[in-house]
Amino acid sequence: MQTRENFGGRLAVILAMAGSAIGLGNIWRFPYLVGQNGGAAFILVYIAACALLAMPIFMAEAVIGRRSGSNTFGAMKKLAPGTRWKWLGLVTVVAPLLLLSYYSVVGGWAVDYFMKACSFRFIGDTSGLFGGFISSTWEPLVTHTVFMALTAGIILLGVTKGIEKFTKITMPMLFILIVGIVIYGLTLPGSWKGVEYMVKPDFSKINAQVVATAMGQAFFSLSLGVGTILTYASYMRKEENIVSAGNCTAAFDLLFALLAGFAVMPAVFAAGIQPEEGPGLVFDTLPYIFSQMGWAGTVVSVLFFFSILIAALTSSISLLEVGVAYLVEEKGWSRRRSTLVLAFGTWALGVLCSLSFGPLSGVKLLGVGIFDFLDKLCTNWLMPFGGLLFTLFVGWKMSKADVRDELTGGGTCNRRLFPLLYFLMRYLAPVGIVVVFLTNLFL
Ligand code: TRP
Repeated sequence: MQTRENFGGRLAVILAMAGSAIGLGNIWRFPYLVGQNGGAAFILVYIAACALLAMPIFMAEAVIGRRSGSNTFGAMKKLAPGTRWKWLGLVTVVAPLLLLSYYSVVGGWAVDYFMKACSFRFIGDTSGLFGGFISSTWEPLVTHTVFMALTAGIILLGVTKGIEKFTKITMPMLFILIVGIVIYGLTLPGSWKGVEYMVKPDFSKINAQVVATAMGQAFFSLSLGVGTILTYASYMRKEENIVSAGNCTAAFDLLFALLAGFAVMPAVFAAGIQPEEGPGLVFDTLPYIFSQMGWAGTVVSVLFFFSILIAALTSSISLLEVGVAYLVEEKGWSRRRSTLVLAFGTWALGVLCSLSFGPLSGVKLLGVGIFDFLDKLCTNWLMPFGGLLFTLFVGWKMSKADVRDELTGGGTCNRRLFPLLYFLMRYLAPVGIVVVFLTNLFL
């Protein structure tokens, strides 16, 4: 009995963390970044960024979360009472809301594609489908609104747990579907060029910006830097092994990202699409694959976009919930009012993001469109900055004995590994993030 219960606990934690991590970041963002940043070389830098920068942050957040047993604010108040560390909480409220504003726009694209799949639109010639959709004014706005309404609705109705139950079905289904799409994609003429693109690194493509982008993607994909992992870890039991939970989450997350890459890139080359295309890449290539599959394409695409939608919603509700919890617990607002105000605010910002692909495409902030600007601000700056503060807190503010106690499960595991982990959290990750920041600013 005892061992079963234990196993259940472990599995639940890893599933919750993997559920937050796996989302549009893997399926939508990763493949287009691979395309924009030079293929295989980017993937290698990304894996290095996960191992050397993201994993230490993951462990730092988990250590703070479990030690304090509370959310970001509560944690700072408890572990560093009377200090300014509580301001870290502000990063962790603002960043997820900014992120949600454009996440919801992409979620809207998934809504649109789900409806297209249901109405047999991925049959025959699919070229220009996404281009026509994205540059129109109203369609993307309507679907963005639907996605945000779903997010807010789930939180208002308090059915978050109900939605998360879906993921137990949709995640494995997504996995099987993607594997199927990868295999099918490889049968298309010309697709092996895409495989080559994914595995043959051209190191001349790596520069400061590529490294910064890889780091940002590692943070985005693993839900780091805004206290999400911290909060989840606060529900972990003492005996749970933080290091192996982190490794499992990262492994699943990477697996989904790579699979998405291998689903998209071969089709990019088979269909003659530009790998550098940007945020629309997945939405341009998948319909091509589905259209090649004949009637099966309709079935696969309906299931596929449904799974993506659920994966995106489990991420978006966690993004909105951070702000709602803050307003309810710290400002005494009602849940209803907090949800409505924040959802409306992020929706409005999302409208600008959505329009930046069409009517507002001329508006540039620091040289890029509104959507790209917010994306860069969150992933390349705010989230690594939050992560930096978390590692500094664990490496320099908390006592080494406490950190050791957390990472070694009270001395029962990872005892040999601890010095390395501590070094990563105390020196390598913070210095690494600062170096990436500086080179990105000045090079
Ligand atoms: N990781 C999610 C994805 O890949 C997005 C996400 C959910 C997130 N919660 C987060 C990102 C918290 C940063 C912080 O789609």
